[in-house]
Amino acid sequence: MEKKNIDWGNIGFGYRQTDYRYVSMYRNGAWDEGGLTTDDTVTLSECACVLQYAQTCFEGLKAYTTEDGHIVTFRPDLNAERMENSAKGLEMPPFPRDRFVDAVCEVVAANAAYVPPYGSGASLYIRPYMFGFDAVIGVKPASEYQFRIFTTPVGPYFKGGAKPITIRVSDFDRAAPHGTGCIKAGLNYAMSLHPIMEAHRQGFDENVYLDPATRTKIEETGGANMIFITKDNKLVTPKSDSILPSITRRSILQVARDYLGMETEEREVYLEEVPEFVECGLCGTAAVISPVGKIVDHGREICFASGMNEMGKVTKKLYDTLTGIQMGHIKAPEGWIKVIK
Ligand code: PLP
Ligand code: COI
Repeated sequence: MEKKNIDWGNIGFGYRQTDYRYVSMYRNGAWDEGGLTTDDTVTLSECACVLQYAQTCFEGLKAYTTEDGHIVTFRPDLNAERMENSAKGLEMPPFPRDRFVDAVCEVVAANAAYVPPYGSGASLYIRPYMFGFDAVIGVKPASEYQFRIFTTPVGPYFKGGAKPITIRVSDFDRAAPHGTGCIKAGLNYAMSLHPIMEAHRQGFDENVYLDPATRTKIEETGGANMIFITKDNKLVTPKSDSILPSITRRSILQVARDYLGMETEEREVYLEEVPEFVECGLCGTAAVISPVGKIVDHGREICFASGMNEMGKVTKKLYDTLTGIQMGHIKAPEGWIKVIK
């Protein structure tokens, strides 16, 4: 199969249309059989629930070309499970988990020409999402839904690739203590648009949000969880009910323990203890592991010993092991890699 003529090594994290997408409709209490289409547009009622009340959730995962030429994806069963939780949290009918995984495979296989080659540093980003389709004007859930998956080839989420970024402590909150922070609801991202633009205007790459109840603990950034490394090589990551349960973070914890013999701690992380860590990173599907060189808290600079030039040593080991598993040159734990073709 001929790959598309794309400069794979120089693509950023942007939308680039591919040939096929998957669509299924929920009507009269059931999902239809669904299938692939080349139509990249959606036509909706002006009063669709998604437009009026933001009834939408999404997922993000990637497909990779392995060293031996297969196309694979990483732990899609966990995305299926999380999307079920997101749907329930927004009173939407979950798309069945096994059908989610099958649909991911079908749409990736159909767009195989867009899966970046091994070693290019790029991957095919997969975006499953669903939304309230029919008209509602009183505040209530829709009765019809559309589930879709499109794909788009992407490079690094942050411009510099593996260069450490600078993030600021946000004055805005991301999620309420008993709100929607732990599901992947579109509304969580709508509220982050103003803070992220403010951060960019002030020269920062991202925002780190604090816990909204006490504003003393680290939660996560707009699109990734956080990891920290202690002086004595321990991996520490914030535990909170109002952050997204990142599949990358859960995988990194296991990689740190089982592949690198590190101690790991999932616990509350106070902003005041952050200067004691020697390395810091953002982790997620889009972010992979993006090193953080500096956190700025209202003018106070917290600079990590790993510096602003390159990824810290421990972060690099985690990065190499995780991506090695994803790209197929390090043996994966049972069930982590789904071979598509
Ligand atoms: N946190 C937020 C707010 C995100 O948007 C994402 C991205 O999906 C993550 C964390 C990382 O989750 P995952 O590793 O499952 O992609
Ligand atoms: C992801 O990593 O898949 C995300 O959803 C983060 C961001 C692009 C919103």
